[in-house]
Amino acid sequence: MQKNQYIEAVERLTEWDRAYHVQDRPVVSDSEYDALFREVKKAEELHPDWLLPDSPTQRVGGEPLDKFEKGEHPYPLLSLSNAYDEGELQDFLNRVHRGLPPETQASWYAETKFDGLSVALHYEEGRLIQALTRGDGRTGEVITHNVRTIRSLPLVIQDRRRLVLRAEILLPRREFEKVNQRQEEAGLLPFANPRNAAAGTMRQLDPKMAHERRLDCFLYDVMNREELELESHSKAMEFLHRQGFQIDPRGRMCQNAEELNQFYQEVFASRHDLAYDIDGIVIKLDSYRFQDILGYTGKSPRFAVAYKYAPDQAQTRILGIEVQVGRTGVLTPVAVFEPTLLAGSTIQHATLHNWQEMREKDIRIGDQVIIEKAGDIIPQVVRVLTEAREAELEELPLPEICPVCKGEVIQREGEVAYRCINESCSSRLLQAMKHFVSRDALDIQGVGESVLEQLLGKGLLETPWDLFGLEVDDFLSLKETKERLATKLYDAVLAKKTAPLPRVLFALGLPHVGVQSARVLASHFLSYQKILDASIDEIAEIDGFGAVMAEAIHARLHSEGFLHWEEKRREFGVVVEDIEIQEGTDGPLNQQIICFTGKLYRMGRTQAQEVARGLGARTVDSITKETTLLVAGEKAGSKLKKAEKLGIEILSEEDFFQRIGQ
Ligand code: IVH
Repeated sequence: MQKNQYIEAVERLTEWDRAYHVQDRPVVSDSEYDALFREVKKAEELHPDWLLPDSPTQRVGGEPLDKFEKGEHPYPLLSLSNAYDEGELQDFLNRVHRGLPPETQASWYAETKFDGLSVALHYEEGRLIQALTRGDGRTGEVITHNVRTIRSLPLVIQDRRRLVLRAEILLPRREFEKVNQRQEEAGLLPFANPRNAAAGTMRQLDPKMAHERRLDCFLYDVMNREELELESHSKAMEFLHRQGFQIDPRGRMCQNAEELNQFYQEVFASRHDLAYDIDGIVIKLDSYRFQDILGYTGKSPRFAVAYKYAPDQAQTRILGIEVQVGRTGVLTPVAVFEPTLLAGSTIQHATLHNWQEMREKDIRIGDQVIIEKAGDIIPQVVRVLTEAREAELEELPLPEICPVCKGEVIQREGEVAYRCINESCSSRLLQAMKHFVSRDALDIQGVGESVLEQLLGKGLLETPWDLFGLEVDDFLSLKETKERLATKLYDAVLAKKTAPLPRVLFALGLPHVGVQSARVLASHFLSYQKILDASIDEIAEIDGFGAVMAEAIHARLHSEGFLHWEEKRREFGVVVEDIEIQEGTDGPLNQQIICFTGKLYRMGRTQAQEVARGLGARTVDSITKETTLLVAGEKAGSKLKKAEKLGIEILSEEDFFQRIGQ
């Protein structure tokens, strides 16, 4: 590759990135993209002096920082005044009209209020040169290394003038769930909401974390507008969109209070369909000339307002705090409330996550508290009404022993969680067994919490595999269980005596291994024994695993407790069914030529391809007549159309995983 070819290739990749991440209309196949990406990477290795700093290979570039630098905002980052109802909106509109010359016809631009992290982005000569947090509005921290990893943000743009832009960085809710799951598995404090998680990610010195967490970014303000001869906010948004930035696709002009309220309601009604959290709409006077007439108060512009949605909240009293002991031994305090109606359902419990958080919020038994549904799903204690305390209330003491088995409790270095370390703790066993029989694990029908609890109570289960050593008589000894039910339960267990590898791997509750990673692990090694024998390095090689995860899995597989489980499995003759690929037989995906397209949620595309190949398929990146199956994720574009045209079978992500029985 010649130098000019290299430069052209970088430009082409950048263009393709934009088409894929911002416009949701991929223009080339993944393999075409990957091939060029690899060539560019090779050229950069051979000729380090050619390296363009904005090459797509450089989104996560360089070494982690030692510390954060401070940077000054050339334009202060102000905040917005708020309105909470129609009356307050009308007050705002009236104030604006009073500030403008009589008879002025004012138009508004309304857009979503993103609930994320506010940042300033500086572009010079067509390149992103700096990203700053808001800080105190005058100075912020330089987070360019992290912001560069956001795939929907262009690192290079066509316009070469200086641009000072304002944007919101968001962590999509699905990503947030994954992040928190990983936090909990690693014994770290979960984030309270996606905004905190986004902020926490931006506060990392090493950009790898941001790269993994797949943040998103929306632009909503051009601050050096006077240098650019822009005349209105709507024109500025059009300009940003043309330059390849993501802007709120719902944003639109409104002429009066009625249209603004209409927009407010519409966005409210559709907010659960959005991939990320929003907390209202923002209304801006469209014309910059009118904006300048109104100007600013000390903290916020007079020409804009945040019209916010009230969160679903309620007040209740904490009747008690229970401590639950999870499968991995983590102790979790859970508040028990006076039953309270919140966002359509009666709430009686909420996790308090851990002692640190409980202490920070100063939560005590007997307290009046405000509860809220975070992300409209999980109830949370937002704050304690300490002023409503009538008597001195006691703090829940730090746990010294496990509340269930009375065994030792430890706090590992660097973790906030307290853990029970007794593997035979009945609560841990119960949770492990519930996990073992659950739908995505061995899926043993009819054997639920109550059955397991009784069996444990009778001392019949020591490891999950002991289920396979039970007789019909053992089930007969359970409450309200006659011959017919006992036989049914016995048969349900027996039916799973040969179990598919991915299900077993998930059922074992290995550290960091969820349904998805169990599948990837299975299709990588294909055999149970090979997994038991694998070295840390061999596990770490798998796409998306990494050293920390590999070490934890390896340690568990070689722990005394696990080896005991294994003895029991062999004793009761449970067979783990390896994945066999034989040409010409009817494995779930044999003879299939599969193409994946669009956004997949269960796992990354390379992982999905690995799973498919593990099950006998050939995977391809473009649709041809030979392709037998298209798995279409969200926002699938041209490939979906082509597959439809060619009459190729199309499956959704869910249907695909169902098809392969996982
Ligand atoms: S305009 C001068 N537009 O809301 C103020 N802000 O409460 C310019 N925000 O700190 C801000 N979405 O982080 C604007 N579409 C949007 C927004 C938005 C979210 C945030 C921003 C700001 C906060 C103010």
